[in-house]
Amino acid sequence: MTEIEVLISEHEIKEKVTELAAILKEEYQDKHPLLIGILKGSFVFMADLIRSMGIPVEIDFVQLSSYGAARESSGKIKVGHRLKTPIKGREVLVVEDIVDTGLTIRFLLNYLKRKRPASLKLCALFDKPSRRVVDVPIDYLGFTIPDAFVVGYGLDWNERFRYLRDLCIVSEEVK
Ligand code: PRP
Repeated sequence: MTEIEVLISEHEIKEKVTELAAILKEEYQDKHPLLIGILKGSFVFMADLIRSMGIPVEIDFVQLSSYGAARESSGKIKVGHRLKTPIKGREVLVVEDIVDTGLTIRFLLNYLKRKRPASLKLCALFDKPSRRVVDVPIDYLGFTIPDAFVVGYGLDWNERFRYLRDLCIVSEEVK
């Protein structure tokens, strides 16, 4: 049986995204930044964030995944869609839905650093520090969340639940 409970409501997420966007707007106002989202999870956050920022930005996406159908990271990062935009000398902001073990984001930041952007920062909406395996600096953070398997607002479990407006905890009974 599917049991889900709301952890962070749509309203709370909206308020936080607005708050983050205001800070980012100040920071990147005249810099024409490149925002790089990590697919698939970040697509909802990215869409809301750039519209709330309301300044000219460029976007691109990379597709990285390590979970597949499992609830725990496999630790192996699979690369799907690659970055198409040159980033040398650009102001780059990585947009991530959730930092869990940190392996995905470390992989991407190391890759991007080698391409010598003018600046490279990370904005993550959710952080689950209890699961961290490698240290990653989160420059702009929305929420710190407990060690529970969460879905919604773009996050999935085996491709389900991405459409939910709230961030929800899925119980183990889900089949
Ligand atoms: C999730 C999430 C992050 C990553 C975080 O992606 O969207 O990108 O895991 O986990 P980590 O810090 O332990 O590396 P997932 O692998 O589930 O792919 P998806 O975004 O396509 O669902």
